[in-house]
Amino acid sequence: MYTKLFSSLALLVIPGVARGLIETCEDLQAAFELTQTQDVVDEISTFGDIECPMFTNMTMTSNTLTLNSAEDLSITSGSTSLINVRLEVTNGAKLVWETSVFFLGDEEVENNVNGGGVFVGEGSTVRFLNDVQIRDVRITNERDGDSDNAVFVRDGGCVWTAGFFRVDGEATFTSCAIIGTGESPPGSGGAVFVDATGSVLFNQGVAISDTFITNDGGGDGGGIFNLGKVNIKGDSRFEELSARSGAAIFNGEDASFNFRNGASAFFRDLSNRDSEGSALVNLGFFKFSGPVLFVDAEAPVIVATEGSTTIISRDSAFWMFENDDVTGEAISVADSAEVSIPGSVSFVGF
Ligand SMILES: *[C@@H]1O[C@H](CO)[C@@H](O)[C@H](O)[C@H]1NC(C)=O
Repeated sequence: MYTKLFSSLALLVIPGVARGLIETCEDLQAAFELTQTQDVVDEISTFGDIECPMFTNMTMTSNTLTLNSAEDLSITSGSTSLINVRLEVTNGAKLVWETSVFFLGDEEVENNVNGGGVFVGEGSTVRFLNDVQIRDVRITNERDGDSDNAVFVRDGGCVWTAGFFRVDGEATFTSCAIIGTGESPPGSGGAVFVDATGSVLFNQGVAISDTFITNDGGGDGGGIFNLGKVNIKGDSRFEELSARSGAAIFNGEDASFNFRNGASAFFRDLSNRDSEGSALVNLGFFKFSGPVLFVDAEAPVIVATEGSTTIISRDSAFWMFENDDVTGEAISVADSAEVSIPGSVSFVGF
């Protein structure tokens, strides 16, 4: 009793720290707003439903917001639902979120933004300490009627980052989408777009499925489009994705993409819409760590362009069941590209 009283008094006297329980859309908005003047620490429940009546940006441009749980997370399996919520953390601000989070969008709604669920600006950090799931979030690139013919592109169906985006639990992206409209081609990064200054860490792997970039003329990296750094430290899956090229992953020049700690990867049912490279288009540095299995990906499954380095791990396999449309090699390697393929890698149906 004494200890409890003492600790809550202690918290009250720490300057710049606010405490409260976040239960509603307004509570969450208020916590984000308070970061304009101070660091903020609040509690949130793993069974909370934070539902905004309309699509709402939760924006922070300074300080740190920490959302803790009072529950014992080692025995709780719930997650905080965020409905109609987009997080925008810019200008060096930092968000640390302890509970598992489930972002739920609306299949009928397409928002005209970069990063339909989370936007992280240069120098800023968004860190989820547990699982993150984002589902049914879609972006579009609609021009308003008065604008000129300038090409107008939005990237990152679910997440856009030029800062640090980190998920310590499992990261799951389902039905993220980018919709092109009229003369504006769709942007890149169906689930995740990483800009040149951006970096992403998925500490327990990532699963991306049922994600599409639609309409002609653009849209690379149906799962992840990377111009910065991506590190993945757990087994991962990329399934049922489509894009112009790099249906699962597009890794740009000077970008680095590393699977680490022996993490395996599974790629299935990938289609490149009107270009090349159904699992991976690599212009930079790309390294697998554990075995990789490619099933029913269009040929070429991997495209390694001039000057790129691609390292495929032992015991990986390329399997094609629909033999009719195989028109080429599993891996397309440009003259000056480095691709390492261990002898234990197998090719079935190519
Ligand atoms: C959310 O923020 C983006 C800018 O990042 C802006 O374009 C959009 O209009 C905002 N949406 C709402 C509903 O405020």
